[in-house]
Amino acid sequence: MLILGIETSCDETSVALLEIKNAKFFLRQNLVYSQIKVHQKYGGVVPEVAARKHVEKIAPLIEKALKESGKKISAIAVTAGPGLAIALMVGVETARALSYLLKIPLIAVNHIEGHIYANWLPPSFHSDKNIFPALCLIVSGGHTELLLMKDHGRYKLIGQTKDDAVGECFDKVGKILGLPYPGGPSVALLAKKGNAAAIDFPRPMINSPDFDFSYSGLKTAILYYTQKQKNNHNFPKFGVTINDVCASFQAAAFDVLIAKTAKAVKKLKVKSLILGGGVAANTNLQKRITNTIGQEFQSVKIFLPENKFCGDNAAMIAAAGYWHYLKKNFTPWQKIKINPEWELV
Ligand code: KG4
Ligand code: ZN
Repeated sequence: MLILGIETSCDETSVALLEIKNAKFFLRQNLVYSQIKVHQKYGGVVPEVAARKHVEKIAPLIEKALKESGKKISAIAVTAGPGLAIALMVGVETARALSYLLKIPLIAVNHIEGHIYANWLPPSFHSDKNIFPALCLIVSGGHTELLLMKDHGRYKLIGQTKDDAVGECFDKVGKILGLPYPGGPSVALLAKKGNAAAIDFPRPMINSPDFDFSYSGLKTAILYYTQKQKNNHNFPKFGVTINDVCASFQAAAFDVLIAKTAKAVKKLKVKSLILGGGVAANTNLQKRITNTIGQEFQSVKIFLPENKFCGDNAAMIAAAGYWHYLKKNFTPWQKIKINPEWELV
């Protein structure tokens, strides 16, 4: 069988074709048109502009994917939320029309579930044996969540951010420091050359008894720090460099992620830890998770998605859609709706 995946929740227009043979995944297409350059001049994603770009790109991408594959599709999996309403609408309306015209089932996929299933994509994933219960750490531009995954499609929310998401915090810090949009990769790049111990930024909620996070205070701490240095007229030549600011910020942000994740791994006695979302592409985070949690809990399998599957893509949506297909969890084309605030649990 072949699943067509469609993703338009934010600033990536993506179309994928995932073939499933004997319960094994073969990714035939994963076309991603990134709108980063379009939004760069605004310093952030402009929903109306994103939607117009999705409209322009989606049909040619679908045509390209289908032409190259030459096979018949069995189902369409589309991101229905969470995300930007006007952007989600483009993908959902396209999927609705295709489902009607081609008379094939339609599956509404939650974007966060897609980020989890990025870990099932080839070539990394082999078998479901000894995975569940799993702890999922979702770190993206809109979410910072710890979820307990008891089985395919069965989740429990363990903790989440009370304010900003960690990716959003990276983006805002990037903006404060005058770095190119999106801030995440820009800050991460400079952090590689900086001293993570140069500035002792706060680690909000690191010792709180729950599994929640907070990133808005950390962003404010960086804002005050840079303002103070600028007023001293010696930024960035104040002994510490902008690279040090990035490295120190990143260390503070990840210390909290790692502390809470390790605490949840221990308490919930999970068999595996699954990472997902744009921030999961950060190599420092990947290394630190492997070195700390991997060392402390050696029996826990750690799944890190491949870089190309960390950011938004339709392959992960098709992968998540497959499990819904097995359960015949279809939505008739007349009934599918976007849900910009859709919570997985
Ligand atoms: O999952 P994603 O592509 O979109 C959402 O669902 O939000 O995540 C995008 C987020 C942005 O905030 C971006 O700055 C961040 O992921 N990001 C990173 C890195 N690459 C992307 N943050 C830190 N380090 C990175 N290497
Ligand atoms: Zn995402």
